Amino acid sequence: MTPRARITGTGSYVPEKILTNAELATRIDTSDEWIFTRTGIRQRHIAAEGEHTSDLALKASRKALESAGLDARDLDMVIVATATPDNTFPATATRVQAMLGMEKGAAFDLQAVCSGFIYGLSLADNFIRAGQAGNVLLVGAETFSRILDWEDRSTCVLFGDGAGAVILSATAAGENPDGGAGVLSTHLHSDGSLTDLLYVDGGPSSTGTVGHLRMLGKEVFRHAVVRLAEVAEEALEANGLNCGDIDWLVPHQANKRIIDSTARKLGMPSDRIVLTVDHHANTSAASIPLALDEAVRDGRIKPGNLILMEAMGGGLTWGSSLVRW
Ligand code: UT7
Repeated sequence: MTPRARITGTGSYVPEKILTNAELATRIDTSDEWIFTRTGIRQRHIAAEGEHTSDLALKASRKALESAGLDARDLDMVIVATATPDNTFPATATRVQAMLGMEKGAAFDLQAVCSGFIYGLSLADNFIRAGQAGNVLLVGAETFSRILDWEDRSTCVLFGDGAGAVILSATAAGENPDGGAGVLSTHLHSDGSLTDLLYVDGGPSSTGTVGHLRMLGKEVFRHAVVRLAEVAEEALEANGLNCGDIDWLVPHQANKRIIDSTARKLGMPSDRIVLTVDHHANTSAASIPLALDEAVRDGRIKPGNLILMEAMGGGLTWGSSLVRW
């Protein structure tokens, strides 16, 4: 039997500084009421000056390793899903690798914006199934505060900084422990004809500047409510499961109205949804692992639970994953 990838540890980190809606309302023409009713967001964390994506990733990674009972030397691979790397190159993952004191294995970044964690799960799962890695550290880490146009109220109120990490470990060949715990499936999609809906207007090969995030929010919203329900159904169908089998929906946290719409289409009650958008805002690739870690640590997610994750982001990219905890 081919090995299966199990999530054996989780960790997360958010920067100390909290920026509330009320504080934002003193700087731009907005209000707590507008932001909360349109998005479900109350506050976001903002990285300190000199605090980089790799610093957030490192703190989340250390906690994930600790909860998996592993040392960095046990890792074969570090994948950092991020759209806000420390530098154009080298990969932020190689910085994390060095900070963890690893001198072997492979480390690289993955760019699928808000879908980055789901794309990373798929990649890690495939490396493990192919026998090319035994223990993989997968991190979603972002400092979106650095690419926001703080004068643009239609985007700057939506995002925050943070990092979440998981350890994926191979089950021993021929073994099927813990009632089949592991990654059951991942489904990935993209449609590059929709790049103009959500993008950064800079980059090394275009303007030579970092640029700022630009979004046609209404259009992204419209695609999200359709595609996320579709890709969630795709995951259930592929596994011969239905919504009633899911213990927890752990969605990408962009907007509570998008999450509610997906849950409604699936027939998922709100008390089985892990929601962090109120206190983290949209942390892009970090949002799902941040939410996962929160629900694991507070005891909501338990061994044997079936977890459905889904995300959509710039590209557009989108995807889903089903995991038996
Ligand atoms: O993670 C990647 C994926 N990203 C997303 O999923 C985001 C998807 N989009 C959304 O979440 C929503 O479209 C937004 C939250 C961005 C916007 O909500 P909306 O209900 O689509 O609002 P809208 O863009 O239609 O704006 C309505 C009004 C506009 O005013 P007028 O033209 O009707 O007079 C905006 O100028 O709200 C105004 N507005 C604001 N007002 C107060 C836009 N931003 C703000 C603001 N505060 N921050």
